[in-house]
Amino acid sequence: MSTMLEVSGVSHRYGTGAKAHTAVNDLSFTVEAGQLASIVGPSGCGKSTLLRCIAGLTPPTEGQVSLHGDRVDGVPDDLAVVFQDYSRSLFPWLSVQKNVEFPLRWRSLSRAERRTRAAEALEQVGLSGVGGKYPWQLSGGMQQRVSIARALASRPALLLMDEPFASVDAQTRFELEDLTRRVQREQGSTILVVTHDIDESVYLSDRVLVLSKSPASIVADLPVELPAERDQITTRESAEFVTLRGEVARLLHGGTAAPEAATAASDAAEWELAEQAKDVTETKTGS
Ligand SMILES: Nc1ncnc2c1ncn2[C@@H]1O[C@H](COP(=O)(O)OP(=O)(O)OP(=O)(O)O)[C@@H](O)[C@H]1O
Ligand SMILES: [Mg+2]
Repeated sequence: MSTMLEVSGVSHRYGTGAKAHTAVNDLSFTVEAGQLASIVGPSGCGKSTLLRCIAGLTPPTEGQVSLHGDRVDGVPDDLAVVFQDYSRSLFPWLSVQKNVEFPLRWRSLSRAERRTRAAEALEQVGLSGVGGKYPWQLSGGMQQRVSIARALASRPALLLMDEPFASVDAQTRFELEDLTRRVQREQGSTILVVTHDIDESVYLSDRVLVLSKSPASIVADLPVELPAERDQITTRESAEFVTLRGEVARLLHGGTAAPEAATAASDAAEWELAEQAKDVTETKTGS
């Protein structure tokens, strides 16, 4: 296996002097080609900042990022990002087909090739036939599929996803998780997903990177040794799955569950994460 992504000593600070805020602190890790890794961490710990540094959207204050050996300095051509907020990431005045084709405009592809690629990507996400509609004519889950199709159409070497399923219902979320795993297998894609959902981080990936509270640093790097063929019901019931989610929860709990920290947590998402971690540990210990 070859290394697709190398993050070395990346730190990011917003602002300067007394107002400086360190969002990411000296992070190093690599992701091998074909791997699906997830990053889980408390709200505000610096996950999106890290993804922006990896995507070349924000230069890190220190350290460097390399994609298949080339230093990232600006957004690489063969990298695509799926953002959390699909409603703001699609152009309402363009049809679904045109939205998916959009990033291909800057490639040396003919119009016919762009059209074919977009149609293929839409088919991959189960949306053949809706190319002529507008995003606002689709449900939230379908819109998020369109953003995934748009990312896939450029056949990226690395696909970054920032809480991609956070705003869809539970059933759609399951479908999109399975879709992501299928794409990884069928295309051999390398994928890095940020999520705040402990179960999702385990179900989706080959590996879970657990981040600490702000500024983000790596608390643990856990291999997920579940079978490649996963099923939303049986996998989640398996002993290996339950053990792993307990482990991730405990690691996150360690970082967020001090009583004063929990009460002081004004951010609802951070509170939710602490609660989730507690639920998982309680189910595990039967308390
Ligand atoms: N453009 C910015 N300018 C100044 N501070 C910022 C900026 N963007 C983020 N921050 C701060 O950096 C920290 C990390 O933010 P970031 O968005 O990376 O966290 P996150 O882990 O993605 O959070 P969430 O789970 O809520 O999405 C936060 O304290 C945030 O307020
Ligand atoms: Mg974020």
